[in-house]
Amino acid sequence: MESKTKLTSDSSEWHWWLLVAVIAVLVVGAASITIWRDFHELRHKVPRIRRPPGGVMQKYSDALHVSTQFFDVQKSGKLENNRIKWRGDSGLEDGKDDNLDLSKGLYDAGDHMKFGFPMAFTATVLAWSILEYGQHMEAVNELKHAQESLKWITDYLINAHPSDNVLYIQVGDPDIDHKCWERPETSTEKRPTIQVNSSYPGSDVACETAAAMAAASLVFKNQDSGYSKLLLDHAQKLFEFANSYPGVYSKSIPSIQDYYKSSGFVDELLWAASWLYHATGDGYYIDYVTVMHGNAFANWGNPTWFSWDNKLPGIQVLLSRVNFFGTNTQISIIENMNLQMYRRTAEALMCTVLLPPPTNKKTNGGLIWVNEWDSLQYAIGSAFLAVVFSDYMFASKTPYLYCNGKLYEPMDVRELAVSQADYVLGNNPMNMSYLVGYGLNYPQYVHHRGASIPIDANTSCHDGFKWLNSTKPNPNLAIGAVVGGPFLNDTYIDSRNNSMQAEPTTYNSAFFVGLLSGLVTSSSVVISFT
Ligand SMILES: *[C@@H]1O[C@H](CO)[C@@H](O)[C@H](O)[C@H]1NC(C)=O
Ligand SMILES: *[C@@H]1O[C@H](CO)[C@@H](O)[C@H](O)[C@H]1NC(C)=O
Ligand SMILES: *[C@@H]1O[C@H](CO)[C@@H](O)[C@H](O)[C@H]1NC(C)=O
Ligand SMILES: *[C@@H]1O[C@H](CO)[C@@H](O)[C@H](O)[C@H]1NC(C)=O
Ligand SMILES: *[C@@H]1O[C@H](CO)[C@@H](O)[C@H](O)[C@H]1NC(C)=O
Ligand SMILES: *[C@@H]1O[C@H](CO)[C@@H](O)[C@H](O)[C@H]1NC(C)=O
Repeated sequence: MESKTKLTSDSSEWHWWLLVAVIAVLVVGAASITIWRDFHELRHKVPRIRRPPGGVMQKYSDALHVSTQFFDVQKSGKLENNRIKWRGDSGLEDGKDDNLDLSKGLYDAGDHMKFGFPMAFTATVLAWSILEYGQHMEAVNELKHAQESLKWITDYLINAHPSDNVLYIQVGDPDIDHKCWERPETSTEKRPTIQVNSSYPGSDVACETAAAMAAASLVFKNQDSGYSKLLLDHAQKLFEFANSYPGVYSKSIPSIQDYYKSSGFVDELLWAASWLYHATGDGYYIDYVTVMHGNAFANWGNPTWFSWDNKLPGIQVLLSRVNFFGTNTQISIIENMNLQMYRRTAEALMCTVLLPPPTNKKTNGGLIWVNEWDSLQYAIGSAFLAVVFSDYMFASKTPYLYCNGKLYEPMDVRELAVSQADYVLGNNPMNMSYLVGYGLNYPQYVHHRGASIPIDANTSCHDGFKWLNSTKPNPNLAIGAVVGGPFLNDTYIDSRNNSMQAEPTTYNSAFFVGLLSGLVTSSSVVISFT
């Protein structure tokens, strides 16, 4: 019974396979139940990514209209479409001795110095803000204004770079300037210029200027391609200058080191290269910031604070873009790994500000705390990076940021940025708005020559100090000024001679304009600037 035998034998095989099949079904089933349960738990934890509400937030819109005006307050040169009643033309002769027109640009702070290093940084941050949040600015009718302010600086920077390897980095002498208390419109003091060149190099200031011009070339690309190309050309030449003649500008020219002394130039080299990458799409610049110089210059893994002196945190966030959204440029595996290092360091910075104390030092009122001088710079600089980073997370649908065993959603990162903006706008123990002209209670004694002197005053350089000494509030509103800010104990002394707390700067306003633009409404950031 061949067939029967076969049947028997088949039958036993069948039993065997049935057993295997049943076991397999049980094992796979159990496993899939576990996976299914985990999946559901995860889904339960994150029903979907929390997102900010759409629509314009009136508070941030109002604050943005105030904030952008500080660039008008600070303008040097022959004013166009002047928005500030008490301002007039000034600095018209700047650069004349060098046969240059350096009349435009912005005064740095409460004096009438034009310092190229922080002025270019102001332009870079403003350009970045426009690139990320131009649509938001447009929604509240501030885009054109922001672009005009940026161009007022880049017009100056173009003229300050009259030939290869020469960059004018300062107009005015702080010793002469600070011996006077007068309006810029009536000033008659000498305003000497200082340049860096191949014998007295300044890679930091050259690269910050290159970064500003590269970023601005993207801002103006669609509306004025000639101007955009001109900016890019200057940016590339300045970057070459910085690489060919390495040097710290305040070491090359020690006489200027009392103001905006630079702690080094390698961060600016990477910063300029990062912006030139975005402006050109040229893979050389990716190679520059990764394989060529990443290890030596980038300080991966160590978060630091964004400021006029330290560009590393800005680079980390800007290059995270490439990691979040990918690139059309061919990049190697090692370049890609190095780009990851930038993103990991940006994440570490976000964690530093998100994690509770002591990791993250804050005032009792909730302000990120780094340093007493211009304390707000660090808080709003970090908050600007936080809102940008949170938008990269939203746009790439990245649900979490992992911080030391804790999970943060993009909305948590945005809320950190909100908390810093709200602190500045008056949600703080002093109930004081540190944005001049916003709210009911803002500083009345801002350390600012122009704002403190009546427009019809009869004083000049020396007797003008009576306006510094005056116990009356400033007669003119330095609208949009973001003052230095509070002490660690959240208090503030509203006194005109308190330059540590009461002096505003243009880069504070650039950070704050960027932060407010991020918060004023919500939409996906653009995937590519080009
Ligand atoms: C180079 O810059 C230094 C420092 O500003 C200046 O003293 C010198 O005159 C400049 N060189 C030339 C050739 O202009
Ligand atoms: C700030 O406002 C709160 C609430 O209105 C009030 O309780 C507090 O006393 C105010 N603080 C100061 C310093 O004015
Ligand atoms: C300047 O002098 C004129 C004439 O003496 C006077 O009318 C005016 O009030 C003075 N301005 C100020 C701000 O003191
Ligand atoms: C302003 O105050 C300083 C310090 O008290 C004093 O030396 C100076 O003479 C005063 N200047 C004017 C113009 O009132
Ligand atoms: C706050 O801190 C500053 C600077 O350390 C100090 O001068 C001031 O007295 C402190 N104020 C209060 C109310 O503790
Ligand atoms: C302002 O403060 C500086 C530095 O503390 C001091 O040297 C100067 O005398 C003060 N000026 C006035 C007018 O109080």
